[in-house]
Amino acid sequence: MAEKADVLQVIDFPPFTNERLEKLFTVHKSFQAEDPDAFIAGVAERIRGIAVTPPATARRELIERLPNLEIIAAFAVGVDVIDLGCAGERGVIVTNTPDVLTDCVADLGMGLIVAICRGIVEGDRYTRAGRWVAEGDMHLTTALGGQTLGIVGLGRIGKAVAKRAEAFGMKIAYHGRNKQAEVDYPYHPDIAALARAADCLVLCCPGGEATRHMVDGDVLSALGPEGFLVNIARGSVVDEAALVEACRAGTIAGAALDVFENEPHVPEALFELENVIVQPHQASATVATRTAMGDLMIDNLVRHFTGEPVLTPVG
Ligand code: GLV
Repeated sequence: MAEKADVLQVIDFPPFTNERLEKLFTVHKSFQAEDPDAFIAGVAERIRGIAVTPPATARRELIERLPNLEIIAAFAVGVDVIDLGCAGERGVIVTNTPDVLTDCVADLGMGLIVAICRGIVEGDRYTRAGRWVAEGDMHLTTALGGQTLGIVGLGRIGKAVAKRAEAFGMKIAYHGRNKQAEVDYPYHPDIAALARAADCLVLCCPGGEATRHMVDGDVLSALGPEGFLVNIARGSVVDEAALVEACRAGTIAGAALDVFENEPHVPEALFELENVIVQPHQASATVATRTAMGDLMIDNLVRHFTGEPVLTPVG
C-alpha cells in the first residue's frame, strides 16, 4: 500500500487489533470523539473504509455521509449492524469474520446449555449465600443425556453446537430456512413445532429483519415449563418482553442469554430471576478468537486496499 488508506473506526477493539489497524491505516476513531457526528463530518471525504462490530452500526445514515467509502469490514460474523442493501446500492464491499470464531461461540453455547440445565450458576449463588448450610441441598436439576436439543439455525455454529451436544448424549433436531440434505437430524419447518419437540432450544441463526422476534410468546409457550432457551445469536431474534414474562411466570423453565435486544442494556427484571443466566455478549470473547477475528478483519482491509480480492466477503 503506497499511501495509508483512511479508515473510520466506530467502536473500540482489543488493543492488539487497534495496534495493527493503526500501523497499517490512518485510523479515525469516531467513538472517542466528544461529538462523533461533527468528527465524522470533518473526515467524511477521506474515509475509504469502516471498521465496525456490534453494538456499533454502519447504517444508511452513516454510509451515505461517506462519498468515497469502498469497504465495511466487520469484526464479527453477524452483519445485522450493517445496512447491506445500502452498501450494495453504493458498490461498497462488506466483509465479516466467519469460521475463526465458530468453535469458541459453540463452546459458550454448550457451556450455557450445561449451565442452565444443571443449575451451575444458581448453585454457585446458593453455596456462596450459605444456603447449603442453612437450607440443605439445592433443588434437583435437569439431565442432558437423552434430552432433545432444538437448534434454530443449523449453520457453521449450529453444527458445532450439535457436535458438542451429541457428545453429551443429547438428540438433535433443527429449524432453519431450508431442510439440509447432508444432515439427518429431524427438520421442523415450523419453529413452534421444534420448540414443542425440544427440551432445550438454542438460537444460532443470524439476526436482522428476517428473524426479528421469531421466538415470541407462542414459541416460548410451545417450549413449555420444562424447556430451556439458550441464545447465542442476536437479542433481536427473541421478543425480550415475552421472554422476561415467560421466565418470571415459569412458562419456560429458564433461559441462558449471551445477547440482548438493546446491548449493553439488559432488562433488569432478569437480574432477579434464579432461572436465568446472563452473559455480556461473550461467545467469541477469547484471546485466541478475538485475535483471529481482528486479523481477519484487517487482512480483508489490506487485501482490498492493495487491489486483491477480500478473503471473506458477505453476500
Ligand atoms: C458476534 O456476535 C459476531 O457476530 O461475531
